[in-house]
Amino acid sequence: VETTLIILKPDAVQRQLMGRIIARFEDKGLQVVGAKLMRITEDLAGKHYAEHEGKPFYAGLVKFMTSNPVLVLAIRGDEAIEVCRRLLGKTNGIEADPGTIRGDFGLSKGYNLVHGSDSAKSAKRELELFFTKDEIHTYEQTVGAWITE
Ligand code: GTP
Ligand code: MG
Repeated sequence: VETTLIILKPDAVQRQLMGRIIARFEDKGLQVVGAKLMRITEDLAGKHYAEHEGKPFYAGLVKFMTSNPVLVLAIRGDEAIEVCRRLLGKTNGIEADPGTIRGDFGLSKGYNLVHGSDSAKSAKRELELFFTKDEIHTYEQTVGAWITE
């Protein structure tokens, strides 16, 4: 079982897609174990996207991510990191397959609605950036027995 960091970006919040995007993860059988509406500071955006510093889209990305509130989620389940990346779809909404979140809701590379950690290492690092330990919950779902063999 893994836990991953998902961010519903400012465009998802503005477009009132939060409920429908959360439903994608819940429908899949994943569990929401942390959730918080927050404003990302420039400092936090810089830490989160440190790997992209120096790239041509970096300044715009930080501006976008700090421009409006975001909803950060901790999502848990079997292979949650890989499963969530597949639910998101390709970075660019134009290339993302129908059936994925980006493929169904977006037409843009920059405004692509959601972030998902891309590896176990990133998930650990990013969860620690956005959540304190007591903001991530452990609770048993009886339905879980019907999702995980
Ligand atoms: P994240 O889950 O947000 O990390 O997306 P990703 O892993 O699919 O893509 P990547 O880490 O390469 O890029 C991070 C974010 O920067 C993307 O989600 C986009 O919002 C933005 N981005 C990446 N490449 C471009 C680009 O070429 N142009 C613009 N405008 N934005 C980009
Ligand atoms: Mg990325």
